Amino acid sequence: TEPLRLGIAGLGTVGAGVVKIIRQKAALLTERTGRPITISAVAARNRDKDRGVSLSDYAWEDDAVALAKRDDVDVFVELIGGSDGPAKAATEAALTAGKDVVTANKAMLAHHGQALAQLAEDNGCVLRFEAAVAGGIPVIKALTEGLAGNDITQVMGVMNGTCNYILTRMENAGLSYDQAFDEADKLGYLEADPELDVGGIDAGHKLALLAAIAYGTQVAFDAVELEGIGKVSIADIRQAADMGYKIKLLGVCRMTGRGLEQRMAPCLVPATSPLGQLDGGTNMVMIEGDQVGQIVMRGAGAGEGPTASAVMGDVMDIARGTRLSTFGQPASSLKLVTAAQVATP
Ligand code: HSE
Repeated sequence: TEPLRLGIAGLGTVGAGVVKIIRQKAALLTERTGRPITISAVAARNRDKDRGVSLSDYAWEDDAVALAKRDDVDVFVELIGGSDGPAKAATEAALTAGKDVVTANKAMLAHHGQALAQLAEDNGCVLRFEAAVAGGIPVIKALTEGLAGNDITQVMGVMNGTCNYILTRMENAGLSYDQAFDEADKLGYLEADPELDVGGIDAGHKLALLAAIAYGTQVAFDAVELEGIGKVSIADIRQAADMGYKIKLLGVCRMTGRGLEQRMAPCLVPATSPLGQLDGGTNMVMIEGDQVGQIVMRGAGAGEGPTASAVMGDVMDIARGTRLSTFGQPASSLKLVTAAQVATP
């Protein structure tokens, strides 16, 4: 059988993790999908960095767009990051050239998801992004496939591990916000622009993507009501603890009579609840469907193995011939959320 040939752009933590899975689990991947999954070429800024895995079997491209257009690439795997720039240019080039795309890029999809989903559809391509939301938790698959027969009444969750880590360290170790932030920085948890994490923007991107799938709407990141954790003080945390609560950066989206509500803000949650017990860099997503009731998924929202695991799930779907639409329904049928359809409290 014909192999499925990948071009991987971006060899940071996630990219290296994907290469490792493909090299170490080749037999398993072939067994499960019915065809070998191979890498034709990679692109990354630094060729010489040690990534803990051999890359000598693969062609190198300096330019992600050139990689995306290569004849020996069937699926373009975008792990560069950033809402615009080379990630977007290369994703567009791949789709225009009729290649399927797998990405972990929450920022790009939060800002350009509708246009990219439409471009994929127009070119008969698949564009999938499981790794963009809640890392290793397969929440996109849950919403688009397993729960497709439900009216989704609410999606809620902690979707930024860095913020949860900072809040947990303030709570458990009595660190100030600045101390906890510095610790997260030293551990390499922060995004290149830390404001994306602590400003709630990264979590807001993820919430907007889940809302689009849950409610069949065009991604409306600008309509997310956002508040980060920068103003949470140790006094707030102690006061909450005295009342039996913890403070979590919690996202909620639901469709109300007044329109789509998407909120990402520090919230009080009972200390003994599943959300209250979610410590450290972990994520939790809770989905409520009219038929299924409540589903709770908890797991690693970032890191090499968990994020690469989600990327591979999408790649393997494509290897099996699964042709899902980006947001679970045709891009052209996603409803535009106008200002009048945004619920504000
Ligand atoms: N900065 C993100 C987080 C990485 O902390 O959750 C995963 O998207």
